[in-house]
Amino acid sequence: MTGYSPLYSRLDALLTSNREFWQFMPFASNQLIWTQSHPGLCQWLMSLDDEAIARYIEDGDALSQALAEWIPDAAELYQLAMTESYPSQQKPLPKGLDIGIPGRKWQQITAFNQVIPTLELPWLEWCAGKGYLGRVLAASHGTAVTSLEWQQALCEEGEAAARKLKLPIDFVQGDAFDPACEQHICSQQHAVALHACGDLHVSLLQRVAAKQGRAVSISPCCYHLIRASHYQPLSRIGRQSTLTLGKHDLRLPLQETVTAGQRVRKQRFVEVSFRLGFDSLQRFVRGCDDYMPVPNVQKAQLNNGFEEFCRWAADKKQVTLPAGIDYQYWQQMGENRFALVERMELVRQLFRRPLEMWLVFDRACYMEESGYQVSVGTFCPKPITPRNILIHAEWMPESL
Ligand SMILES: C[S@@+](CC[C@H](N)C(=O)[O-])C[C@H]1O[C@@H](n2cnc3c(N)ncnc32)[C@H](O)[C@@H]1O
Repeated sequence: MTGYSPLYSRLDALLTSNREFWQFMPFASNQLIWTQSHPGLCQWLMSLDDEAIARYIEDGDALSQALAEWIPDAAELYQLAMTESYPSQQKPLPKGLDIGIPGRKWQQITAFNQVIPTLELPWLEWCAGKGYLGRVLAASHGTAVTSLEWQQALCEEGEAAARKLKLPIDFVQGDAFDPACEQHICSQQHAVALHACGDLHVSLLQRVAAKQGRAVSISPCCYHLIRASHYQPLSRIGRQSTLTLGKHDLRLPLQETVTAGQRVRKQRFVEVSFRLGFDSLQRFVRGCDDYMPVPNVQKAQLNNGFEEFCRWAADKKQVTLPAGIDYQYWQQMGENRFALVERMELVRQLFRRPLEMWLVFDRACYMEESGYQVSVGTFCPKPITPRNILIHAEWMPESL
């Protein structure tokens, strides 16, 4: 048993036993999927107006209390997914370091720097982008940084900025998955990755563990960007789970669109209701009650109206639309289904952070099982970035 394994196990049990409330595709269903199993829940959902939905999205505690009537584990799920913030330590930075760094990115990297320990080791910045984090680490700690990044143009920009600022940063252009990149991981080093997607941050943890690197700090994101078709748990305890997560499930931790402003919400309503309207239409035309995904659409294309959208989508999916279709009827169907999708997504929101923590604790348990002392917490408030979890692991061979 390791430090995070009891938490992981409990979350695993609750996510598994409540799968019917989150592990499905709201888009694919043309009615609330709990119509038979939980009619009371459906009645409650249909009684909510847009404002009430927005309020529950903002207030996870209120949502968990409201849903507890039908999902008795709601309060425990909410509690288990609460994460403490790391204590933050002021680390003064020279002036001018933020040149060219967007405001929110600057807040993220300074917050990241202020919560990670100073170990006086050289740094490895994994999937560095333009190396903004590396810039702050080099300036704040005075130790050398190696920044690995795939895109040559980003390496060049980062390199030029580092030279201008006279900072000890070396860029390496390389593919993080290429075994050749392992040469940049060594034991006396503090590896970091801010928002390296899915398999990219996983590959860092695995390589650091294999080389017994002294420390690694990562802030995971985009859990669905994996090469396998399903999630491959990292930890021994994770491999015992009976949950099988596809990419759609792995997107759930990132789904927070409904709290967007009026304009974005309106745009989303148009796009999603058009898609759902077309889906209902294609089911009718093909005589087959299966959901049909449609590729991404240029936003401007939506301005041409629902009928045009259907023609475009039918062409993409090679569906022949007969003459005489009542497009107004199918558009209305789409709008009705949008309301149902919103309500099913509201219930799934209860599981959003718990599922993220399940993924985070799998990573934490993996590092613990590999001989590391691990901590998990938030490094900045959510408005700065919703992907605000930081996993920090330090090699402690005696904990094996
Ligand atoms: C979400 S960005 C994060 C960048 C930076 N860490 C930050 O927070 O600003 C992910 C970065 O990973 C890089 N990347 C993607 N695939 C990669 C690979 N296979 N090897 C190395 N870097 C990769 C991308 O080019 C991108 O710069």
